[in-house]
Amino acid sequence: MWTNDLSVDNVMIDNEHKQLFMLIDNFYKGIKENSPKERLEELILGLFNYTKTHFKNEEQHMRNMNYPDLEVHKSLHASFVDQVNNYYDRLKGGKLILSIEVTNFLKDWLINHIKGSDQQYAAFERTQKSMMNIN
Ligand SMILES: [Fe+2]
Ligand SMILES: [Fe+2]
Repeated sequence: MWTNDLSVDNVMIDNEHKQLFMLIDNFYKGIKENSPKERLEELILGLFNYTKTHFKNEEQHMRNMNYPDLEVHKSLHASFVDQVNNYYDRLKGGKLILSIEVTNFLKDWLINHIKGSDQQYAAFERTQKSMMNIN
């Protein structure tokens, strides 16, 4: 669940984060309701695609503010994309049973990433803005 303390003071990015939580939530419901494998594959693929879109937008946002830690942040995004891709491949190959643990991994990663790394660029941007107001 998205909460106010996760805000990065950017409406577009906050909305994308909210959407990601919604997609993970749908996925969680899918598992709880014993949805067929095809449906779960569809849900994880949707999450995968939306995550890539969000990361691309967010990286552009960081580029726009000349965020110094962009490269590190990008590598964190890339490793999450790899992990989700790996889940999807294993699921398609019948080697992974989607479970609450998988969902929890996605949810925990997202929350920790927004609270940690995303908040760091938000803090950077706030500092930049307040410096501009002083001068
Ligand atoms: Fe983000
Ligand atoms: Fe991020």
